[in-house]
Formats: sequence, structure tokens, C-alpha cells
Amino acid sequence: MSKLSSRHLLGLENVPRQDMELILDTSVTFREVIDRTIKRVPTLRGITVVNLFYEASTRTRISFELAEKRLSADIVNFSTSTSSVKKGESLRDTVQNIEAMKIDMVVVRHGSSGAPYFLTQCMDANIINGGDGAHEHPTQALLDMFTVREKYGSLDGLRVVLVGDIKHSRVIRSNIWGFKAMGASVALCGPSTLLPYEVEKFGCDVYTDIDEALDGADVVNVMRIQLERQKSGLFPSQREYTNLFGITKDRLKRLNKNYTIMHPGPMNRGVEISSEVADSKNSVILEQVTNGQAVRMAVLYLLSGRKEEEGS
Ligand code: CP
Repeated sequence: MSKLSSRHLLGLENVPRQDMELILDTSVTFREVIDRTIKRVPTLRGITVVNLFYEASTRTRISFELAEKRLSADIVNFSTSTSSVKKGESLRDTVQNIEAMKIDMVVVRHGSSGAPYFLTQCMDANIINGGDGAHEHPTQALLDMFTVREKYGSLDGLRVVLVGDIKHSRVIRSNIWGFKAMGASVALCGPSTLLPYEVEKFGCDVYTDIDEALDGADVVNVMRIQLERQKSGLFPSQREYTNLFGITKDRLKRLNKNYTIMHPGPMNRGVEISSEVADSKNSVILEQVTNGQAVRMAVLYLLSGRKEEEGS
């Protein structure tokens, strides 16, 4: 079995292209498992995975849980609302107590950037980042890349436009590192108040005019606008955001013929994307969700260090 260069998946920044290719290639095999009548393989039998969700999630949490079940792992689901975090227990004490129960892998979602890295410093388990603050959401970007690669055969030379809150979006960050490493050209578009300081350091073209950004694009990945930003004055109103940056049918005329519309979810329909576009034939939003399971199965398998013959 080829191996990843790290025993954790904390983000895609600095992950070598060959590791990303290994994950995407391995995902192809697991994608086939999902279409079987019996969607289960014995690959992770005997491995215990803890899903440690400190923040709300629908897709990532269910997708990881199904991926783990389909790999025959033992699973523990942790949520803050039913744990001793409510009594003030720290993250370090929480994970060290969980590890004392002999677990092997942790999937963590946390509101603080760097929480997955912190876990690598206080426990031995393999750590997978399920989204940390405004930092990264690596499996989301990998499933985005997988979905695009399935359609076009390769990411090399594609023009990918990421639209939304560039400053706070962990999905955008992981998409930038992932798509660029795989040879795509990445453009960013959003309101100037939602562009980070030194945005040019991402090495992407940056636009504040959506129509210019969309010109000649193959893939448009639309991000959820976090409505709480409006309260902090970072954009004036939902209606103005929609007028200036919303992905509507009219705006699609500028894209290349075989274009693709993506969204990581959850969507604000009628704000960053119209329902007409979200539900159109070029939208792969639900395919992204299906493919997410295969990509997460591949990540869990590769990080576990299991050899195929051990699991079969
Ligand atoms: N895409 C994504 O991370 O969705 P959830 O927040 O529902 O997991």
C-alpha cells in the first residue's frame, strides 16, 4: 500500500500533490462500495474512531459516521451538549480521558482554528480535521476535488472560482490549497470587506466584480454567506449581497459551456445562490455529498495504516 506522508490530516496547505492523488485514487474504490447493495467492507474492523464535534454539523458528521460504519470501525459520537464540557472540562482533559478508553482515531470539528493540531500534541490517536474555525476543512476540499475530477478527468488547467466570504471561510482555504496543488487556476471573488489582509499571498486572482470573475470559468464553488457577518457590518444587507455576488441564472452565461456549480452546504437559497441554479443540471451539490463518504472512507483507511490484507 502507498502511504500518506503524515499520520494526521490537519489541512491541505503543504500536503504534497502525490498525497492528494493517493486519497482521490483510493476514493474511487470506496465510491464503488457505496453503490453496492451491501455497503460495508471489513477494512477498519477492530479500529475505534471518535467523532468529536464541538460545533454543529449535518453533512460532515453524518458522512464520517457512515464512512466509519461502512469500513466496519467501532464508533463513538461525542457532542458538547451531552458531555462534561457543559461542566467546564477542558479540551485537553476531555481528549485525554477519551484516549484512556483505548481509541485509535479522532475526527474533530471545533470553532477554534488549530484545535486539531492541539490534539496531536496531547494524544497519540490519528487526528482528522472536520473543520476548525476559519482555518481549514480538508475533507470538504478533497470531496470537491474528487467530484470535479470525476467530471473532467483531471483538475489540471481548469479555472475554478471560489465565491463568498474569503476572510472567514475554512472551505475556501482548503479549496485554494487543494485545487492549486492539483494544477487548477483558482480565482477568489467576494466583497472587499470580506477579503483577508494580504489576500495576494494565496497566489490567486482576486475579484470584487462577480461578472469579471466568472468569465471563462469551468467550476464555480459558492460559499455560504455567514449571515452573522451582516451584524458586524461586513456587508450591508442580504439583498445587496445577492445583487452584487449572488449566483443567478443570468450570471451563468459567462461560464464555459460544460460548467459546474458547487456548494458545500448548508445553502442560503436566494442569498448566495438561487434555487434555480442550485437545482439545475450543472449543479453537483448532492453528488458532492455522496462523494464525501467515499473520500472520508479513503482518508480513514489511509491514515489508519491498515494494509488491505489486514482488513479483508
Ligand atoms: N459542508 C459542511 O461542512 O457542512 P456541515 O457543516 O453540515 O458539516
